[in-house]
Amino acid sequence: MIEAMNAPIATHLAATSRLDQINDDDPGFGDIFSDHMFQVDYRDGAWRDPRIVPYGPFEIEPGALCLHYGQAVFEGLKAFLGDDGVVRVFRPDRNAARLVESCRRLCIPEIDPGVFLRAIDELVRVDRRWIPARRGRALYIRPLIVATEANLNVRPAREYRFFIMTSPVREYFTGNTVHLKAERRYTRAAPGGMGFAKTAGNYAASLLPGAESQSQGHDQVLWLDGVSHRHVEEVGQMNIFFKVAGKVLTPDLRGTILPGVTRESVLTLLQEDGVECEARRIDIEEILRAADEGTLEEAFGAGTAAVIVPVGRISVDDRTIEINSARPGPLALDLYRRIVDIQRGDVPDDHGWNRIVR
Ligand code: COI
Repeated sequence: MIEAMNAPIATHLAATSRLDQINDDDPGFGDIFSDHMFQVDYRDGAWRDPRIVPYGPFEIEPGALCLHYGQAVFEGLKAFLGDDGVVRVFRPDRNAARLVESCRRLCIPEIDPGVFLRAIDELVRVDRRWIPARRGRALYIRPLIVATEANLNVRPAREYRFFIMTSPVREYFTGNTVHLKAERRYTRAAPGGMGFAKTAGNYAASLLPGAESQSQGHDQVLWLDGVSHRHVEEVGQMNIFFKVAGKVLTPDLRGTILPGVTRESVLTLLQEDGVECEARRIDIEEILRAADEGTLEEAFGAGTAAVIVPVGRISVDDRTIEINSARPGPLALDLYRRIVDIQRGDVPDDHGWNRIVR
């Protein structure tokens, strides 16, 4: 399928480094990109010419199909530098698998997971010095595939570029808790749509609802389903969890929700702990009722960029509920600590989740 699969990755190193431009106190999120990027191009039915080149602009035809019809999919994952000096990438195999699913939904030729993993290994190795060492920091890895063929017919392109860039980051949210607005009017995804795919259009569609909710004093949108506008789906750019009467609830994956790697890791850890977990439809009324009855113990978002983010308040129509007195809950704090400990190599990686970059 992929000519590049076994081809060596050619490496062209940058003449100078921009490493001194990082603000060590706060690298921000995606504000600066590391010195190099990976690229491979698809043409004549095969991925060709894998290479690592200095990070920088490249030419794209104004007629490129990705610019017109949004044929673009991406991923997000992180590399960590542990106190032991070892570089670990967290669960890249799960991102490789999800990218294949996103490609299928958008008629993009698949990237072989082996190519994906090898490209990340090489790129992280080349820009190893860009990986922040401090806890709470990481090298964010952003793989992206865009349709580059210039054509105005609405059809799958015949040419693509797959590229990977990296960026030293802090966590996505800086506050203690977030305030959500349950969104009754706009929806993120509908059955049969692209909700499960990590594609640019889903994020573009979230901008206006996000901006409106922020102008009303909320931090993030709590997405409800696109049919009845009642069932909880996701929060902003994360998956959502609730703890109700000792049980952990999260929406099940039914094609409208992104299958998050952090979501999957949280469920694994909780199930191993013997915590009762249910992945199922969650009516927002059930959450309001639990708040009224005093059984809503915690809520938190989970995602790669954000890790675990406690939810302090949720506004639903004209009501606002406060969760755990708007303070981070013990479960969210514990999950955050355990996931970061695994990612940084502070505890044994019993699940084999880390890919070591030598
Ligand atoms: C991630 O968590 O990696 C994401 O892709 C969210 C991003 C849009 C900030």
